[in-house]
Amino acid sequence: MTTTADSRSDIPWVTQNHRLVRYEDAKISVMAPGLTFAALVFEGCRAYWSQARDDLLIFRLDEHMRRLAFSMSLLELDEPPSTEALVADILATLKANDFREDTYIRLQVYVDDWGSMTATAPTGSSVICRPRPRVADFEAGKPFIVSSWRRNGENASPPRVKASANYLNSRLAGLEAKRLGAGGAVLLNDDGTVSEGQGGCLFFLRDGVFVTPDGTSGILESVTRRTVLDIAGPLGIETEERPVGRTELYLAEEAFYCGTGQEIMPIVAFDGRQVGDGTPGPLTRRLQARYDAVVRGADDAPAAWCTPVYGDA
Ligand SMILES: Cc1ncc(COP(=O)(O)O)c(C=O)c1O
Repeated sequence: MTTTADSRSDIPWVTQNHRLVRYEDAKISVMAPGLTFAALVFEGCRAYWSQARDDLLIFRLDEHMRRLAFSMSLLELDEPPSTEALVADILATLKANDFREDTYIRLQVYVDDWGSMTATAPTGSSVICRPRPRVADFEAGKPFIVSSWRRNGENASPPRVKASANYLNSRLAGLEAKRLGAGGAVLLNDDGTVSEGQGGCLFFLRDGVFVTPDGTSGILESVTRRTVLDIAGPLGIETEERPVGRTELYLAEEAFYCGTGQEIMPIVAFDGRQVGDGTPGPLTRRLQARYDAVVRGADDAPAAWCTPVYGDA
């Protein structure tokens, strides 16, 4: 199947509880704790079509699965699904749909059926894959605001856990950005330091160094952020992970937002203050180009970063 639209009709097959079913037949109970109490953790991965390898390559699947295992451990499920079973589900779902284009994979694990807030069974899981081309703003970038909402704290609803419950915080910030005509929102921590955007991490260039809030700054441990840190060094681009103050964003020479969905998306303003000359900067462009090469299986990218879908068929 080759399509670039983004709708349900593009997803004939999904996996639910390790079985392939038609999208319209995948159901959960309306009283499932995964729904009523947001007892749900998930991953969002991307698979990229590689022309050179004539294959679909899942990017950094091991890292996504490790993060999911950690998120599941916080749910304290009686019977968490194994990594092997979930990886098999992902491969089966991609193959069943015969996707041969850039694809987004949502993998979710939750408490199903009926139960209380602390129910730990039964476990449900599902894998939904859909065509997802690159966002248009990859080229032009977007202006961001600093949200009036604060990031949920480590001791309340820890951002390190990829739980749907955390996305109320993201939604509030995202809605505020939308209302104000901005493309995204930066969330600050209660102490005023910068955490991340509503659905991705932040980097900004200051005095020639790309700075990103460190792992204890209320961020999700992003696979894309890790990738940027990994690819920058060999390009001769210096990076630094540290606590960041809000007004440092206003000093940025370049900036971008990064995540599996957005990849590396330039930020052209913070709170109406132009970043650099208001267009995506040259170092951001170099990182984007390298990112695009590694996700599509460039020869000099680590082999473990790309899991072939059809190659092992
Ligand atoms: C809140 C938040 N931060 C960061 C990220 C980026 O994480 P990753 O690069 O692993 O997709 C995401 C992406 O889903 C996110 O939702």
